[in-house]
Amino acid sequence: MSDALFAGIRPERLEKLRAREAKRFAAGRPKAKAALADGADVFLDGVPLHWMKDWPMPHLPLISKAKGARITDIDGYEIDDFCLGDTGSMFGHSPPPVAKAIKAQAGRGLTYMLPSEDALEAGRLLSDRFGALRWQIATTATDANRFAIRVARAVTGRPKILVFNGSYHGTVDDVMVELVDGVTCNRQGLLGQVADLSQGAVCVEFNDLAGVEAALAKGDVAAILTEPVMTNSCMVLPVAGFHDGLRSLSRRYGALLIIDETHTISSGLGGYTAVHSLSPDMFVVGKCVAGGMPTAVWGMTEAVAERYAVANAERAPGHSGMGTTLSANPMQFACLKANLAEVMTAKAYAHMEKLAERLSAGLAQVIDRVAAPWHVVRVGARVEFICAPGPLHNGSDAAHAHQPAVEAALHVALLNRGCLIAT
Ligand SMILES: Cc1ncc(COP(=O)(O)O)c(C=O)c1O
Repeated sequence: MSDALFAGIRPERLEKLRAREAKRFAAGRPKAKAALADGADVFLDGVPLHWMKDWPMPHLPLISKAKGARITDIDGYEIDDFCLGDTGSMFGHSPPPVAKAIKAQAGRGLTYMLPSEDALEAGRLLSDRFGALRWQIATTATDANRFAIRVARAVTGRPKILVFNGSYHGTVDDVMVELVDGVTCNRQGLLGQVADLSQGAVCVEFNDLAGVEAALAKGDVAAILTEPVMTNSCMVLPVAGFHDGLRSLSRRYGALLIIDETHTISSGLGGYTAVHSLSPDMFVVGKCVAGGMPTAVWGMTEAVAERYAVANAERAPGHSGMGTTLSANPMQFACLKANLAEVMTAKAYAHMEKLAERLSAGLAQVIDRVAAPWHVVRVGARVEFICAPGPLHNGSDAAHAHQPAVEAALHVALLNRGCLIAT
């Protein structure tokens, strides 16, 4: 590709597109603009969560409601939502069974640090859906991963967590590392991080079993923490044999395998793990698992649970460093139960899969027709078009494939045509 092109687009055409679409967006949203001017400055940087600064629109829309796969903003636009709260609403906004459960539980108490009958039913559903693991409930997938890492370190007595370059498992400080010239370093851009994270983490490229083996052979890795498919940069699929290799290497070198299904739950019933018969030692899924109610679940095999019991019995009394006050509250269980039993069903997956297949084939056809150097990747219900040739092999490839200027212009252009995609 020539330097004078961005993903096949001439810079002057790209700038024209960006400017035209930004103008159109802003001209159509006077109410949001006025409301933000009136009230947003109480927030740091004008937004309640600084990630919202990442959206490429000239200013944010204000959302008045969201239902199913559609959101409505205060300027009256109805938007097809392909972002779905970055998958927190993967099964639709406010699924009716979950909304009903929230309403019922709202009159029965929101949090009391004791289990309900729903908790037992949700536990049965979790084992049914994801395998006979020993479960714990957290509030975010970040927390669930943090706690899984604690257990892995406690039961193996080893310090390091192996993660893949370009991966993301939430704002888990311990694994915020990347590869720079083949060396594990703190991620650039971390705010206020003073620790040398390479003391507790090692970074390897995805799909590189030789690299994984070299890291494991040092004998200090407690666990491999990975998504089955890398979804947090441009999507990277595992090559044939990669997951089998991870499993056998982790066993050979005494490290645990933690599979984070938070995004790949899009793969089908039970997530990528069930669809592709993986056998992790620990399993994490958050975001959409309770239909959008802040909830994450993490589980471990019986064998790990036995080792945990020993480590737990041997530790000194006091705080374990795991858990948060509002976790495992009755509202989470009411929503988990409703979502697992009535929303995240085989029927729902079949529907989503069919639509995703259609979207993916349509995108590929257009890319083909205009001979763009782009490609499409799909993991069940999750579809991504990537403004670079594929397939991508690892996190470094994925970082190079990103075309921020092209993606930002397209994002606003699509929004102006009624489609919201993830940033
Ligand atoms: C694979 C994966 N794990 C964990 C997380 C963290 O989720 P949360 O931000 O809800 O803690 C994310 C967030 O994007 C994720 O993609």
